[in-house]
Amino acid sequence: MRKISVIGVGYVGLVTAACFSDLGNHVIALDVDEKRIAGLKRGEMPIYEPGLEELVQRNVEAGRLAFTTSYKEALKDCEFVFICVGTPSGVDGDADLKYVESAAKSIAENMQAPLIVINKSTVPVGTGDWVAEIITRAEPKPIDFWVVSCPEFLREGSAIADFMSPHRTVLGSLHREAADKVAQLHLPLRAPIVITDLRTAEMIKYASNAFLATKISFINEIADICESLGADVKEVAAGMGKYFLEAGLGYGGSCFPKDVKALAFMAEEMGHEPRILNSVMTVNGLRREMVFNRLKNIIGDLKGKTIGLLGLAFKWNTDDMRDAPSVDIAEALLNAGAKVRGYDPVAMEAAKELIPKVDMARDAYDLADGADALVVVTEWNEFKNLDLERIRNSMRQPIILDGRNIYQPEQMRKLGFTYQGIGRSYSGNGQIQTEIKVRPNAA
Ligand SMILES: NC(=O)c1ccc[n+]([C@@H]2O[C@H](COP(=O)([O-])OP(=O)(O)OC[C@H]3O[C@@H](n4cnc5c(N)ncnc54)[C@H](O)[C@@H]3O)[C@@H](O)[C@H]2O)c1
Repeated sequence: MRKISVIGVGYVGLVTAACFSDLGNHVIALDVDEKRIAGLKRGEMPIYEPGLEELVQRNVEAGRLAFTTSYKEALKDCEFVFICVGTPSGVDGDADLKYVESAAKSIAENMQAPLIVINKSTVPVGTGDWVAEIITRAEPKPIDFWVVSCPEFLREGSAIADFMSPHRTVLGSLHREAADKVAQLHLPLRAPIVITDLRTAEMIKYASNAFLATKISFINEIADICESLGADVKEVAAGMGKYFLEAGLGYGGSCFPKDVKALAFMAEEMGHEPRILNSVMTVNGLRREMVFNRLKNIIGDLKGKTIGLLGLAFKWNTDDMRDAPSVDIAEALLNAGAKVRGYDPVAMEAAKELIPKVDMARDAYDLADGADALVVVTEWNEFKNLDLERIRNSMRQPIILDGRNIYQPEQMRKLGFTYQGIGRSYSGNGQIQTEIKVRPNAA
C-alpha cells in the first residue's frame, strides 16, 4: 500500500484517486473547491461518470480513499502527489497554467518529506522543468523532490475502464529512479510502460490528442466528399477501421479543442507554421456552422421555428459541456430568431448555465412535440431506439438532421421523415444529389 495524494477532483483527478485506491493504495484527494469536497464527503459526485460513484463509495468505506481541502493533510506521509488540475485555453490559445502554478506552490509550501510530484494535467512542453523551479523557489526549507510527467489518456464516459486498462502508460522524467517508482505504481494495470524524458512525455500527450482530432477532421472532410459523390461515409469508415473515424459535428469537449490550439501555439512560438493543425481546427469549426446552414436550406427562414436539440453534452456518457457543439448551434439558431429546445439525459443542469435561453424538455418525446426540426447533437444510446412514428406524428414538420449518423437513411425515409445524415449521400427525398461522370481516359 502506497500513500498517494491527488490534487484536483475533476474528471481526471477523481478517477485517478478512485482507481489508485481500488488498486489497494491509500489515497487522499484534494481540491480547492470546498463545495466539491463537502459534497464528496457526503457521497455526492461532482461529475457524471459511469461507475464512479460506486467505486468512490466502496473505497471510502474500505478506508482507502478520503477527501480534503488541506494541502498539509493531503501531503502528510505522502510519497507521490499527482497534479490533476485544469489547464484551459488562455486568451491566445496557449494553455493557461495558473492552476498548475498554484498547485505547485501549495505543494512546495506544505510538503514535509521527500516527494515524487507527478503531473497528469496536460501541460505545454517544458512545464515539468518550470514546476520544478516553482517548487524549489517556494519551499520554506529544502526537501528532495522529483518531477515526473504521466499524461492521462482516459476518455470521459469510459474513464474507469480506460484508466484500469490503458493501451500504454507514458512516464517522463530526468530522474530515472523516480520514473521507475511511478512505473511500479502502474504495474497492476498490466500495460506497456514507455519511460522517456519530461519534455518528450509532455509532447506525447499533445501529439496523441492532435492525431485523434486530425482523424476526426479528416473523416469529416471525407464525409463532405462522400456526399457529393454518392458514397456512404459510415461504410467508408468501417472499411478503414473505425477508431476515431466517426463523421459528424466534429470534436468538442475539454481536451481536443484546447490541446490542438495549444500545440499550434507552441509551434508558432518556435517559428513553425502548423499547417495540418490549422486545417484541423478550421474543418472542425465549420461543422457547427454546417448544422445551421443545412437547417436553413431545408426549412428556409428560421425565425419563429422551433428546433429541438437531441443531446447537449459534447459526447455521450458524460455531462461535460465544455466546448460542446450544442452551445454554438443553439446560439446561432437563437440569433436567427428560432426557438430552441434541448434534451440530454445527464447534461441539462450544466447546459442551463451556458445556454439559459434554451428551453429544456422532459424527454425526447416532449422535445419532438411541435418541433419544426430535430437535430441529433449527441449520440446517446437512448436516442437510437426511440418510437420514431410517435416522434414523427408529434412534430410540426418531420425533419431530422442526424449530426451523429445514428439512424438509417432508408428507414427514416420510409417512416416519412425529411432526413439528412452526415456524408451519407442522401437528400431528404431519397435522391442521390449529384450525377457522376466516369471518364475512363481523361487525357
Ligand atoms: N477530462 C478529460 O477527459 C481529460 C483527459 C485527459 C487529460 N485531461 C487533462 O487533465 C487535466 C484536468 O482535466 P479535468 O477535465 O479533470 O479538469 P476539471 O476542470 O474537471 O477538474 C480540475 C479540478 O482542479 C481543481 N483545482 C484547480 N486549481 C486547484 C488547486 N490549485 N489546487 C487543488 N485543486 C485545484 C478544480 O477545482 C477542479 O475540481 C487537464 O489538464 C486536462 O487537459 C483531461
